[in-house]
Amino acid sequence: MPGYKRVLLKLSGEALASPDPHQEGAYGISHAMLQKLATDVAAVRATGVEVCLVIGGGNIYRGIHGMEKHGIDRCAADSMGMLATVINGIALQNALTHAGVPSRLMSAIPMPSICEPYIVHKAERHLKKGRVVVFTAGTGSPFFTTDTAATLRAAEMNCDLMLKATMVKGVFCSDPKTNSAAVFLSKLTFDQVKEKQLRVMDATAIALAQENKTPIAIFSIYEPDGFKKVLQGKTEFTLIS
Ligand code: GTP
Repeated sequence: MPGYKRVLLKLSGEALASPDPHQEGAYGISHAMLQKLATDVAAVRATGVEVCLVIGGGNIYRGIHGMEKHGIDRCAADSMGMLATVINGIALQNALTHAGVPSRLMSAIPMPSICEPYIVHKAERHLKKGRVVVFTAGTGSPFFTTDTAATLRAAEMNCDLMLKATMVKGVFCSDPKTNSAAVFLSKLTFDQVKEKQLRVMDATAIALAQENKTPIAIFSIYEPDGFKKVLQGKTEFTLIS
């Protein structure tokens, strides 16, 4: 794959819930979607690009929802959300194994009976050996989103590109779900994202990516083989750099 040696793909938990982009409020883990994601990752790995994965947990538990709707304390809600990402990580690693992709699962919150604790040099070693590494449990601390965890891991792992898979093909000037006239933005700078207050990622994640000069590609999770197509420049996506 020209240009990219190592990349990080951030998947939201919601992406695991359903292969149907029109299914609102889907919950849990869709095995059809797991298979699709594992196949997409296998296609990229087969080109020789080293792959890191960061998975969210919103298909099982959304911390913000728990706080706003049920008055759960932030630390408790975020801890529940971080554990949800580990459940998704176990499912994703299993799907990768079935797709013939060697992988290792790591958690920012040590739970050695389940998976490896996150150790930066160990992760580096796994990647060099051609294994896909699935990073779970966010940053291991409350008050940080999975997007922030993904930008942190992308920096620690020296990734050439971070990709964020979303429900739509990239960034629009307003929400394309509610505004059919919303204009698609194919290229943005980090400063434009901040100035226009585009809700691509939270401010901490954007600041971290900008500081570490990690470009971010936003693309649709529903695009067949979208992960590889973005790396080859063969599909529409938004590049923030
Ligand atoms: P290398 O020896 O560097 O090639 O890595 P390796 O992952 O093959 O060897 P290691 O002996 O570290 O791990 C062997 C298996 O045990 C792998 O599937 C690891 O994911 C798993 N493993 C390693 N450490 C832990 C841990 O702390 N907890 C759990 N649950 N599994 C672990």
